Amino acid sequence: MEKYKVILDVDTGTDDAVAILMAMAAEEIDLLGICSVNGNRNVELTTDNTLRVVDFVGKGDEVKVYKGCALPLVCTLNKDRRPLIPYGDKYFDGQENHGNHLDLPETSLQPQDKCAVSYYIDTLMASEGDITIVAVGPLTNLAVAMRAEPRICSKIKEIMIMGAGLEEGNSGPLQRAEFNFWADPEAAEIVLQSGCKLTIVPLDVTHKTGIKLKEAQAFEDSGTKAGYAAATFIKRRIKNYSNFQHNWHIGEETAAVHDALCIAGLLDRSVFTKVVNCNMHMDYSGGTADGVSVVSFKPVTRDLDGIFRPAVKNVDLVMEADREKFAAIMHELVTK
Ligand code: BDR
Ligand code: CA
Repeated sequence: MEKYKVILDVDTGTDDAVAILMAMAAEEIDLLGICSVNGNRNVELTTDNTLRVVDFVGKGDEVKVYKGCALPLVCTLNKDRRPLIPYGDKYFDGQENHGNHLDLPETSLQPQDKCAVSYYIDTLMASEGDITIVAVGPLTNLAVAMRAEPRICSKIKEIMIMGAGLEEGNSGPLQRAEFNFWADPEAAEIVLQSGCKLTIVPLDVTHKTGIKLKEAQAFEDSGTKAGYAAATFIKRRIKNYSNFQHNWHIGEETAAVHDALCIAGLLDRSVFTKVVNCNMHMDYSGGTADGVSVVSFKPVTRDLDGIFRPAVKNVDLVMEADREKFAAIMHELVTK
């Protein structure tokens, strides 16, 4: 059995929570630590939510949580550019995917004293280049760590990222951006151009691999704590999707559980049925496409000097995935 040393980076969040539950349950994953970051909510809440998930399944002694960056790198400096960040319930009417606090008991668990950025640097520099990072929130922590200690880039085995959208979007004025990249586009660009091996799991795929209500019910019926928690989060998402997100063609009584797809794909690469090596950049111009990822499948680029050069194919972009396999892996992990 291939074992993976993994650091998770999360902005928990109902779908992050399912990813965490799966990662903690997988025997193949040696979960070194979990880094929290500002995203779905402010970092105090995403850290607390992460600790609640860890505590709920009795992993408080094993799994360490490191609090990360409280704001994106620069995009909130201009107040008009990201006026809603950091997110809080005051911007929603209660009918959205996450809520301030996950629907789990309060916890007395605390994050580690070391911050997430220092944790990345110390852990990666001391490693043998065998650590995979699964990043399913805005990429602020990693970008700061890469700027502070660029040598970590050559120490990372792979970064699996939930982010980007080709045709799909869920953020920004035109809803053409994907949330994690939109929330900190400069950080996303730093990570995209880091030279690390990157696998990108975009919205286009997570929207087509939704988990069904009857599948969530089966998680709950298994009687496990992880099954109950995963079902609670997915049911909330299904309710919300049916209210607001029919235009995303996800299907009735079904919800995308974006971040969890990364864990399934890490454990079994055959979950990703079509992957294309291509070039990806971020638009961080502050204009209409601010926070939108720009993908090129062309074999060449042409700079302002007019000379054609081979394109740098910096990402493996997942284009299609096996929904049934994803649901089966989730079932296996949260019901054991
Ligand atoms: C991503 O944004 C967040 O709201 C989710 O947790 C997921 O990581 C989807 O765009
Ligand atoms: Ca997330």
